[in-house]
Amino acid sequence: MALVAPSLLAANFLKLEDECKMLNESEADWFHLDIMDGVFVPNISFGPMIVEFVRKTTKKPCDVHLMIVEPEKYAEPFKRAGADYLIVHIEACPDLKKNVEQIRSLGMKPAVAISPDTPIADLNDILPYIHHVCFMSVYPGYGGQKFIPQSIERIKQLRKMIDEKELKVLIEIDGGVTVENASAILAAGADVLIAGVTVFKSADPKETIAQLKRT
Ligand code: DX5
Ligand code: ZN
Repeated sequence: MALVAPSLLAANFLKLEDECKMLNESEADWFHLDIMDGVFVPNISFGPMIVEFVRKTTKKPCDVHLMIVEPEKYAEPFKRAGADYLIVHIEACPDLKKNVEQIRSLGMKPAVAISPDTPIADLNDILPYIHHVCFMSVYPGYGGQKFIPQSIERIKQLRKMIDEKELKVLIEIDGGVTVENASAILAAGADVLIAGVTVFKSADPKETIAQLKRT
């Protein structure tokens, strides 16, 4: 069964506590938190302070997606804020192995995100050292974008790479996931579905999460 990680970027921040409560009562597996710096991506979201508040509302793992340059400067603050999984972008890390080691040494599980224009083969060397790949199926920076159809072939390629190495690395899909496209995404080999707008803007978010889980 798929894991589901709702992205709080699409939540109502005036009612953040209620939104977290809703996720706790739902079948959601992880909380996904998107950190944007206005440099690596054009948009700015929120920082460790919000992660810390969210952390206090839940026992579910917090999956923190750093869309920032020089992520090594912020690994410690996000650890203090309570991140369980810390995701860095391959495009933002000239020495990716060093970032991954830093995250692990701080007691978090490292993950690596890959943007749509970066070749999947670039992940080859880092796969044995990470907990999951955050596969971007949209250009990072904004919620509510359309799933890029070419992603399906790339997910298959990544699945094959992981399986050939007999690794347990999970593949999570980030961007444009809907109830309609979830089954094709899972059939391509994904393990975790991130969903922002699909969950938070639906009439019944808990039921939408349940539907994604049942896919
Ligand atoms: C985009 C973020 C995503 C975003 C997904 O840069 O990394 O996590 O919140 O949002 P939806 O599911 O609305 O496309
Ligand atoms: Zn994300």
